[in-house]
Amino acid sequence: SINNSIINNNNTETLTSKLPQVIIAGVKKGGTKALLSFLDLHPHVRAFRFESHFFDKHFNKGLEWYRLVYQMPLTSSSELTIEKTPSYFVTPGVPRRIREGIPNVKIILVFKDPITRLVSDYTQTMSKYPNIRSFYYHAFLRSKRERNKRSWKALDIGIYHKHLQRWLEVFDRSDMYFMSGETLITDPAYELQKVEKFLNLKPFIKREHFVFNAKKGFLCPVINATDITTTRMKCLGDSKGRSHPQIHPISLFRISSFYHPLNLIFYQMTGINFNWTE
Ligand code: A3P
Repeated sequence: SINNSIINNNNTETLTSKLPQVIIAGVKKGGTKALLSFLDLHPHVRAFRFESHFFDKHFNKGLEWYRLVYQMPLTSSSELTIEKTPSYFVTPGVPRRIREGIPNVKIILVFKDPITRLVSDYTQTMSKYPNIRSFYYHAFLRSKRERNKRSWKALDIGIYHKHLQRWLEVFDRSDMYFMSGETLITDPAYELQKVEKFLNLKPFIKREHFVFNAKKGFLCPVINATDITTTRMKCLGDSKGRSHPQIHPISLFRISSFYHPLNLIFYQMTGINFNWTE
């Protein structure tokens, strides 16, 4: 969807701001930015680049504010508007607000092994607050000291079945797509092609759109894959694909005993075996 407004200069169709027809609603650190920017490669997709937080923080401002003042991109009738706000997944009340606000909306959730997700989340906090206490402290000591008043939010995000339950009470399973954050890393084209089908988009994204960048350590999308002379790679920014700190094996073991039984409930709920660590 790059240069989309220029392409549209030549035809007479008026462009309008639309409410998103697709929302990537989580999970935090699942690969939501990668997914949004990869989908944006598709000529019939326009991504809203900010996390709007409309349905969890700005809902009282109203849908017209969301659409116009918050400036959903101008799109033609053939284009899908898509936004992502990962905190939606864990915020009670959001599924119902979305369902009532945008009745035909489709929801995409990208899940990652909750242990990896937790370490990724902790790494992000570390980058903002370098003096953060240890992983072990947050995972095992803090809730005891604080008498469970605030158990670690990052740990709670990974209790996927608990949060997903709220979505399944409101949305048809057929209006939701559950993605593996691991496959999104190793084979983004595979996942993106499945999303194209889910969204009834014409097939566009191919394996050739992604090239491994050794420095980044990830596949990076190739812009203009059809024209080799102008082809360039656009990796995600430095805040995506950070290296993670070593976590002590005992901490990992305890965390994994916590998540493992919960993962099994989640697999049953989704009908998908994500094959995460035992
Ligand atoms: P890490 O930075 O911990 O490795 P989110 O955008 O939801 O915050 O997710 C960030 C995660 O996206 C990254 O976590 C990384 O694992 C994942 N990711 C998936 N595909 C990626 C890609 N092609 N480039 C960089 N990060 C990618």
